[in-house]
Amino acid sequence: MVECLIYVLILFHPSLFPWTSYTVNPLQHAATFKDMMKYWKYDYEEHFTETRDHYVLCIHRIPQGRKNTKIDCIIESGTTIVNHINDFKKPTNHNGKPVVLLYHGLTLTSEVWVSNIKHRRNLALYLSDQGYDVWMGNARGNKYSQSHLTKDPKDADFWQFSINEFAMIDMPDTIDYILKVTGAPSLTYIGFSQGTTQAFAGLSMDLELNKTVNLFIALAPAATPKGFSHPLFDGFIKAAPTVIYSLLGRKVFLKPVLFWQSVFSPALFVKIIDAAVGFLFGWHCQNIDIEQKIVGYQHLFSLTSVKSIVHWFQIIGSGRFQMYDEGSSFFTQTVDHLPPKFPIKQITTPIAVFYGSDDTLVDFDVLKNELSHLAYVKNVHGWEHMDFLWASNLEKMVFPDILMLLEHFNFKTRG
Ligand SMILES: *[C@@H]1O[C@H](CO)[C@@H](O)[C@H](O)[C@H]1NC(C)=O
Repeated sequence: MVECLIYVLILFHPSLFPWTSYTVNPLQHAATFKDMMKYWKYDYEEHFTETRDHYVLCIHRIPQGRKNTKIDCIIESGTTIVNHINDFKKPTNHNGKPVVLLYHGLTLTSEVWVSNIKHRRNLALYLSDQGYDVWMGNARGNKYSQSHLTKDPKDADFWQFSINEFAMIDMPDTIDYILKVTGAPSLTYIGFSQGTTQAFAGLSMDLELNKTVNLFIALAPAATPKGFSHPLFDGFIKAAPTVIYSLLGRKVFLKPVLFWQSVFSPALFVKIIDAAVGFLFGWHCQNIDIEQKIVGYQHLFSLTSVKSIVHWFQIIGSGRFQMYDEGSSFFTQTVDHLPPKFPIKQITTPIAVFYGSDDTLVDFDVLKNELSHLAYVKNVHGWEHMDFLWASNLEKMVFPDILMLLEHFNFKTRG
């Protein structure tokens, strides 16, 4: 009751509508990947692949950019990249283009790669214009990957998945499918946030993936998060999973947020999200223009399982990058068992890391010690987590480095 009252107050409070004169970007009303691509006027394809446990995942593809560039170059030596041992043949598809897979973060979808209001700031469009065959994954449970051969998303059974499944099934099965379709021997994987988490975990659990992933670029890597800025929330995180399940249920996370998103004006929604992430993570969100937030935050939330959230809580609460812990309950949560860690030290795939100095979710000092094949590191001063999606100088701070890395790892001929 009190909650309702608060919502009503927030909804109608005039001071919360400072952008009444603000012009609406058409991208704001593009609610699906299809609509967004119509706006950008790029051709795209929608692919579906069935995983080994029978989820049907959607993968979006921009086979070519507006410029229809075909790349044929060999990078000079003398770049700052270290550790570039690399046995790959020129890894191109049937049309001579190298293949890139972009993977979204927690509660996001492939939409996030084309959600910048500035054309040049969209990594998917940028790379396709640069001559890459660009694919974008969608994790099970999000709005594009909500079907299964036998399970119904209305049932709790459908939602029994954690980061384990993203890492050990969705990621490798998506890669397999893309390589089969394109004929390319390998691809470069670029993840944001949980898109990096699943790659760290997945590459560590299947070392053979070093044959098919020629480079892993981690944007705002989330494998060794620091915890939360608010002590109350930190306490909640450390609560036993049974407590969390009893509060959130066993199925879908975030359904109420989608409802409020549909009710609130986009500008108000921006205020609420900024306040929420400020409270939870201590972010200030000052590097992203307000116009961009209004569009971007509309693409921030798709569904995922409560179990994957609980998995995050276990990782943050324990401070270990560990597998989902089925066993721990309110009574047995102490010393008697520890779930195995993902052995990320074993990864031999070259890794490039981009992280923000003010990203409270990333503890790079810890991560660094775990990675033995770190090829490139860039610390962007003053940046927080979401800046790697929408910061106003993203195309200057990050894209040239990505392009340089892609060219290096995709075209370098051995010897
Ligand atoms: C790939 O990993 C295997 C071990 O699983 C290792 O023997 C091999 O050298 C690695 N290849 C590259 C190119 O790093």
